[in-house]
Amino acid sequence: MEIEFQAKLKKVAVLGAAGKMGSGISLLVVALLAAEKVMLIDTRSEALNDLLHYLKEQLHKKAEKGELSYAQIEHALARVETSTAVASAKGATTVFEAIIEHFPLKAELFLQLDALCGDKTIYFSNTSSIPICKLEKLATLQGRVMGFHFYNPPAIQKMVEVVKTEKTKEEVLALATFLGKEFHKILIPANDVAGFIGNGHLMREGLYAINEALLLEKQIPEDRPAFASSIHALNSITKEYLLRPMGIFQLIDYIGLDVFQAILKVMWEEDQTLHSPLIDQLLKDGVRGGQYPDGTQKDGFLQYTKSKPIGVYELYRKQYLPFEQLQATTEALLDPRPLDHTSCSWKLLLNESPQERERKLSLYFQNLFLLQTPGAKLAKAYLLASRKIALQLLVTGACDDIESVNAVLIHGFHHLYGPINNYY
Ligand SMILES: NC(=O)c1ccc[n+]([C@@H]2O[C@H](COP(=O)([O-])OP(=O)(O)OC[C@H]3O[C@@H](n4cnc5c(N)ncnc54)[C@H](O)[C@@H]3O)[C@@H](O)[C@H]2O)c1
Repeated sequence: MEIEFQAKLKKVAVLGAAGKMGSGISLLVVALLAAEKVMLIDTRSEALNDLLHYLKEQLHKKAEKGELSYAQIEHALARVETSTAVASAKGATTVFEAIIEHFPLKAELFLQLDALCGDKTIYFSNTSSIPICKLEKLATLQGRVMGFHFYNPPAIQKMVEVVKTEKTKEEVLALATFLGKEFHKILIPANDVAGFIGNGHLMREGLYAINEALLLEKQIPEDRPAFASSIHALNSITKEYLLRPMGIFQLIDYIGLDVFQAILKVMWEEDQTLHSPLIDQLLKDGVRGGQYPDGTQKDGFLQYTKSKPIGVYELYRKQYLPFEQLQATTEALLDPRPLDHTSCSWKLLLNESPQERERKLSLYFQNLFLLQTPGAKLAKAYLLASRKIALQLLVTGACDDIESVNAVLIHGFHHLYGPINNYY
């Protein structure tokens, strides 16, 4: 433990501690930081009780795996307090902010915290999209705030996007690097542009996928479930053809359509192409995605049983249709001649050495594009679109080099390869 950082760990506060991200961040803070005091703050008191229960359960699991001793757990929990009052953050030396993605609320919270804590406190915001400089300026934090953008779930995901502003002080950067080490995370620097790298790519990719699906829909005879089949087709292209852990519409469901819309709204202020009437319509229909409190997936574009996709929402009938009912239409759209999924699936390639994975990926894409089927063409166009988005992030200044985009897609989204590749 580097002594110079101990002073910054005198009192660590987590705001929004009982939320989806806040609870994971709280676990990391309690389990891995040698903080003298940890203050977990959330406006929902019931949820704070659940949080304490969750922390105990997770720490005991670590003890069972031999990662912590029971004495260490007791010591860790003895330092923890919970509160529903922001005022309990008074005197905090380091603050993690993970309240909902709403600029006025975050700005107001930072103003309150600054008045309570004074001008030495360092802040890390988990915002997914809000430029850090906007929070810094409004709450006059003067170089003491950084984006520390965990991926979901924070305790498991290996990567954090770190975002500094023009004013961020050296000591704040040094603390972020130190925290990254303590939390065992890979830190990827992103620039202070709305959406940063991860959502900068994901939101644009999601809109591209929606647009492609709506174009595909026009090729489907009227008596067929056109919307559901085209969503199903694009989801298959992104999961099975592009060898990803999940298709793009399953990913949007995982994030939540409401969160997807909220992030788009923030990014829209910098790029007015970022809007989806379809997402607005689906939310009006009550199609939201996201998770139940037990972590299982709620229905969104797709329908789920125990988090496993089983069907797709048909916009024009306002009901879910099972995959089996869509199969024939989807297959006619994509003309899926056999792909070599026995030796080349996301799961299989994940366990290969980097050299072997690269060799197999090159071969796989070579063979895929030789097929010349509508599905193969869609997959190729999708890869090119993702590449274009990555280059756009470089041009708009969301990142300094293209390797950072590849790293975020690989470490944050668990892709086997980045958008800048040689597979075309
Ligand atoms: N969910 C994700 O996948 C994800 C991933 C990366 C980053 N993020 C970002 O993390 C942040 C939190 O997202 P989430 O999904 O955990 O949201 P959430 O709604 O699950 O949690 C937010 C929590 O903040 C609490 N809260 C609201 N106002 C508060 C206040 N003034 N003081 C204290 N607590 C307050 C709420 O009670 C809630 O428990 C957002 O900025 C979001 O963009 C989310």
